[in-house]
Amino acid sequence: MKIPAAPSPPTPPEEAAGSAGPPAERLPEPVLEVTGLTKRYGDVEALGGFTLSVAPGEIVGLVGHNGAGKTTFVEIVSGLVRADGGTVRVVGHDPHSARHMVGVAPQHLALYPSFTVREHLKLFGGLSGLRRGALHEAVDEVAADLRLTEFLDRPAGFLSGGQQRRAQAGTALIHRPALLLLDEPTAGADPETRQALLDTVRRRAEAGAAVVYTTHYLAELTELGATLAVAKRGRVVARGTAADLLTGLPGEVRLTFEDGTEDRRSTADPTGALVEMLAGAGRPVASVDVHKPDLDDLYRSLAVLDDD
Ligand SMILES: Nc1ncnc2c1ncn2[C@@H]1O[C@H](COP(=O)(O)OP(=O)(O)O)[C@@H](O)[C@H]1O
Ligand SMILES: [Mg+2]
Repeated sequence: MKIPAAPSPPTPPEEAAGSAGPPAERLPEPVLEVTGLTKRYGDVEALGGFTLSVAPGEIVGLVGHNGAGKTTFVEIVSGLVRADGGTVRVVGHDPHSARHMVGVAPQHLALYPSFTVREHLKLFGGLSGLRRGALHEAVDEVAADLRLTEFLDRPAGFLSGGQQRRAQAGTALIHRPALLLLDEPTAGADPETRQALLDTVRRRAEAGAAVVYTTHYLAELTELGATLAVAKRGRVVARGTAADLLTGLPGEVRLTFEDGTEDRRSTADPTGALVEMLAGAGRPVASVDVHKPDLDDLYRSLAVLDDD
C-alpha cells in the first residue's frame, strides 16, 4: 500500500456522493502483521488462529498464562518454526526473507558458554551484514546501552544470569532490527538488568522499532507504555491499552483489625469502599491493604471466554 506524500484536498460533498466516502485516516503500515496462525504439536494445539499486528514505534506487551502460545508465536515469526496455517508478514515479507529485519531474544537462553559477549555481538551483527567500523560502533553502543561494557571480553559462561539475559538481548538489538521479539527478557533478572532492558527497549521503540515484549510483570509494561495483547489457548483474546483493559476490573480492599480479624471487599472503586469500610469498622484497625487490578485479575475477567 502506498502512502500519499501529502493529503489530497477534501472532496466537495457533491463529488463524494456515491463514492466510498471520505478517505479514511491512514494508520502507519504495520511492521508485523500476523493473521490466523495455527500450529499443532501432536494432540496439542499450540496456536489456534493467532492474529496480531504491530505498528512502527509500538510496544506490544504479549501476556498470558504458561502454555498460551506466546513462545510458539515468537518462534514462527522469527522463522525458526513453520506454522501449519495463517500468514506472517514482516514489512511485507515472509519470515524467512525478513530475518535480517527481526531481532529475537529467545525465552530459553541460547549463548555459547566459551564465546565472549563481544564475540556474540560480532557474530550476530556480522550475520546481519554489519562490517568493520559499523560493526565495532554497534557493539560499543549496544554494550553501553545494556551496561555490558565491562563484561565485553568475558565468556558468556562466566556471566551472572542477569548479565546473560542482557547479552542475549544484545544479540537481538545489534543490527537495529525493525521488529524486536523479546520473549521474557527479564525472567529471573536482577533490578539493574530489568532497568537496562526497559530503557533500551523504550529508546528503540522511540526510534521507530516495532516491539513484541513477553512478560509476566504488568509493571514493566506500564513503564514501557506498551499496549497489551492477551494470549489464551493459542489466540489473542484481548487487545488494548492497560487502561482500556484494566479500568473497571475489581481490585480488593482489605482491613485487618487489631483483634486479628479481617474485612475484605472486591470492588471497582477501592477508595469509596475503603471510606465505607473504615466508617463501619467499629473497632481499631491495624492495617489497610488496597490491591489494584493486575494481570491475574485481567485473566480472571477473561475467563468468561472459556468454552469448557
Ligand atoms: N516443540 C514442542 N513440542 C511439543 N509441544 C510444544 C512445543 N512447543 C510448544 N509446545 C506446546 O504448545 C503450547 C504452547 O506453548 P508455548 O508457545 O511455549 O506457550 P507460552 O510461551 O505462552 O508459555 C504448550 O502446550 C506447549 O507445551
Ligand atoms: Mg513462553
